[in-house]
Amino acid sequence: MEALLQASGLRVQFGGLRAVDDVSFEVRPGELLGLIGPNGAGKTTCLKAVSGQGPLHGGRITLAGRAIEALPVHRRVMLGLGVTHQIVRPLKSLSVLDNVAFAWGHRHRDSLFSAALHVDRHAARDAARAILGRLGIVEFAERAAGEVPLGIRKRLEVARSLAGEPRLLLLDEPLAGLNSAEAARLADVIRSLADSGLSVLLIEHNLGEVVRVCDRLVVLETGRKIADGEPRAVMREPAVVQAYLGGEVLGGEAPGGEVEDARAE
Ligand SMILES: Nc1ncnc2c1ncn2[C@@H]1O[C@H](COP(=O)(O)OP(=O)(O)OP(=O)(O)O)[C@@H](O)[C@H]1O
Ligand SMILES: [Mg+2]
Repeated sequence: MEALLQASGLRVQFGGLRAVDDVSFEVRPGELLGLIGPNGAGKTTCLKAVSGQGPLHGGRITLAGRAIEALPVHRRVMLGLGVTHQIVRPLKSLSVLDNVAFAWGHRHRDSLFSAALHVDRHAARDAARAILGRLGIVEFAERAAGEVPLGIRKRLEVARSLAGEPRLLLLDEPLAGLNSAEAARLADVIRSLADSGLSVLLIEHNLGEVVRVCDRLVVLETGRKIADGEPRAVMREPAVVQAYLGGEVLGGEAPGGEVEDARAE
């Protein structure tokens, strides 16, 4: 199957540090790809190079066959990249529904047809309600975004990116800070988005959930790609075992639910 996103030979340098060093990977249509690796491996730097929110010093990125590496963030968004925090953080005093409606309106105002398209509030709210339904948080629609529990706020973040109607959703540690039950629920939601045809690039430290829901994993270590393949097989590769806590993570059984968070902090 042809890749939706193709990243080839990505390189990002911060002074003398090669934060991303000749990294290539692809995301296929409808695929949930996990991008993992220890702290400082270059995951966020990679994601920002793809979204245009951070620098890229070498390499090529195509989205549906089209080169995007020279485009500004908003153009990439128009072409189908779902970027979190692209507009603003959730507006705390605004309702959950209006936060998503606002993001939806933003997308449609930006569209090529903005002159012809009269974005009305009802259309935005209808679209927002449908998105909240996909994320299973429609019951929180009228609550102020600043007052809902963290688990709901995390889903709201995803909902806001979905409002941009992306083809590829980029998520950087969406499960961070959630307890294991909430993390599992949000991971299920992300899985269901991929099952509905959306492509997702998921950065996560919660290896148990990553292995459970992802179709494939790419592993980075100190800026380089060290593995790429089926999640359970990848987690057994010696280089990956070595990268994570010297193999402690993978002792005995394949990582399933036991590994809460392998971050070395
Ligand atoms: N703006 C920056 N200026 C200088 N160095 C940076 C900058 N951003 C990241 N780095 C460095 O680049 C390397 C990769 O950082 P990055 O944030 O991409 O790692 P990461 O894999 O996302 O880590 P984490 O799991 O902790 O989020 C690190 O050594 C980091 O200190
Ligand atoms: Mg990061």
